[in-house]
Amino acid sequence: MWKSLPVTAALAIALISPFAVAAQDGPTSQTSLAEQLVDAFNGVFGVHPGMRANHPKGVVLEGTFAPSASAASVSTAAHLQKRKTPIPITVRFSAGSGQPSVPDTSQMPRGMAVKFSLPDGSKTDLVVLSFNGFPVATAEEFRDFLLAVGASGADAPKPTAIETFLQTHPAARNFLESPKPQPVSYATLPYFGINAFKFTNAKGAVIFGRYQLRPVAGEQFLTQAQLDTMGPDYLSSEIRERVRRSPAKFKLLLQVAEKDDKIDDPSIAWPDSRKQIELGTLTITKAVADSQAAEKKLLFMLGALVPGIEAADPMIAARSASYIVSLSRRAQAQ
Ligand code: HEM
Repeated sequence: MWKSLPVTAALAIALISPFAVAAQDGPTSQTSLAEQLVDAFNGVFGVHPGMRANHPKGVVLEGTFAPSASAASVSTAAHLQKRKTPIPITVRFSAGSGQPSVPDTSQMPRGMAVKFSLPDGSKTDLVVLSFNGFPVATAEEFRDFLLAVGASGADAPKPTAIETFLQTHPAARNFLESPKPQPVSYATLPYFGINAFKFTNAKGAVIFGRYQLRPVAGEQFLTQAQLDTMGPDYLSSEIRERVRRSPAKFKLLLQVAEKDDKIDDPSIAWPDSRKQIELGTLTITKAVADSQAAEKKLLFMLGALVPGIEAADPMIAARSASYIVSLSRRAQAQ
């Protein structure tokens, strides 16, 4: 469980050990896989001191989570039990790029991170993306994907490293080439957990599932003519304005795996026909006054879990370890 987190480099480094993942066949044997992943992001997007290695551009808001009547049948997790008062949440929406100045008008996935503040003072998080499926199956392959992107600049000889990589990784090609329509709002996009978790209920019954967050406002996208009138920060301005008028809501769903679904390969999206269980509603009510100050102190950790939920995909530990390396480096630069 994740106790409230003061951001210091020393603490961040101490936190690395439980999530440490050995590099299998990395470029050097001296660095951990988590460090290699953060270095690989830096190779693609550059080093931006004090900023996240990925998703550095974001906006922080607050709200509450109310579990559904069916949530407790899925898991004993504290935030999924029936309760009189909703659970406070902190939400960060982000641009899915490592470039802090990327315009919101660019085609890319968007991120959403949610921190639940549980009654006992601990925290647990969700970290999701507006694209259903990851480019690759493992963290090692993701490092190699990023290294290939980084080595494929305009002057790179043909075929470039990424052209060669895509020949043998169709999911990565699909991820890069699928259209990503421009949202009206961060609150009009669906988001996907991509990595699978194991859920155990009070009777000991186990299911495996992936989170989905569905916007209650419905999915809404801009036409090209509308997009042409939008500024580079239109999404953060829009969500601040939207929650001033009325809350932005999402349904938290669990897409349940069937027997033959791969739970350890996030590059394969499960069919839409899979059973979905509603876990609750997120209600985002206000933007924080100083988002930049707030996000510096925040670390969203999908591997910080409560009893009743366990990681089912090895990528979860690898992601968690790299988020801590990124936090450690951004905290050192502050
Ligand atoms: C091996 C795979 C992955 C690696 C190495 C990776 C790495 C990172 C890193 C280093 C950060 C910055 C963390 C920080 O400084 O706080 C980050 C942020 C983020 N990642 Fe990942 N990531 C991976 C997969 C994913 C997946 C599968 C998703 C979504 C399902 C995702 C969604 C996000 C989001 C939304 C953020 C921003 C979190 C925030 O607002 O603080 N990532 N990622």
